[in-house]
Amino acid sequence: MAPNDSVAAADLAPVRVWDPYVRAFHWLLVIGIVASWISGENGWMETHYQIGLAVGGLILFRILWGFVGSLTARFTQFIKGPGAVVAYMKTVFARKPSHAFGHNAGGGLMVLVLLAAVGVQACSGLFNADDVIFEGPFYDNVSEATAKFAGFVHGWLFNILLALIALHVLVIAVYFFWKRENLVRAMVTGRAQLPKGIGEADFASPFRALIVAAIAAVPPILIYVLN
Ligand code: HEM
Ligand code: HEM
Repeated sequence: MAPNDSVAAADLAPVRVWDPYVRAFHWLLVIGIVASWISGENGWMETHYQIGLAVGGLILFRILWGFVGSLTARFTQFIKGPGAVVAYMKTVFARKPSHAFGHNAGGGLMVLVLLAAVGVQACSGLFNADDVIFEGPFYDNVSEATAKFAGFVHGWLFNILLALIALHVLVIAVYFFWKRENLVRAMVTGRAQLPKGIGEADFASPFRALIVAAIAAVPPILIYVLN
């Protein structure tokens, strides 16, 4: 079966799917995680702390945006029940594009898992210490056992996060090479090739994005300034 035979290429058109804020969030998150990794492994703790707080702020923004953001960013749009996820899994290796308007059921689950993993990674860092000179801002507020546990989580979860990211990128590669659907271009330009007549996503206003970003920035800034 030819990869594109379900909908002929001529019947596809670029459709506005991802708003600029989801795209900015995504690529800043990628940069933030690489920077956290490099600074964490090299013991550049003050830098690691600042980047980690920024990553935490990004996750907070995305969680809020999942409730009040543009259509395709909303959790109600892409969190599906187990039945829909299983049905999606059965089609994942079918050699044709999924033409999803936003995240499909499997992608939606992956979004939740990635957001949760990065969020817990940043939170556990707040209670962690390097046993040399750096202590996370809440390290002194908890028992030694709790701080030790946070350190354990921080070290191990990062390995799990790396595995999840590898899976995430692998699935996107399967879409590109096997299913002939370029999801990365959509996450860069905001537009996906979808069957004509599907309509376009409504994007929330820049003003709303600014307010949500300002709210998300408050906890990391307060933590930094007050410690
Ligand atoms: C709130 C922000 C964060 C704080 C306060 C923090 C704190 C720390 C501390 C104290 C260490 C040293 C642990 C040791 O030497 O045993 C560390 C290591 C590390 N952190 Fe973070 N972290 C934060 C956010 C993050 C984030 C967002 C990531 C990645 C997504 C990350 C990834 C790592 C890695 C890969 C290491 C090195 C592995 C290790 O020794 O555990 N951290 N972090
Ligand atoms: C640090 C590594 C990465 C993390 C933590 C990550 C995380 C995420 C998250 C949370 C989303 C959901 C976006 C949203 O709705 O807000 C997403 C979507 C996406 N990511 Fe990543 N990502 C990473 C790396 C990459 C890379 C390297 C690529 C490109 C090869 C990529 C391509 C995509 C694409 C195409 C989507 C949209 C998928 C869809 O159409 O449903 N990601 N990613």
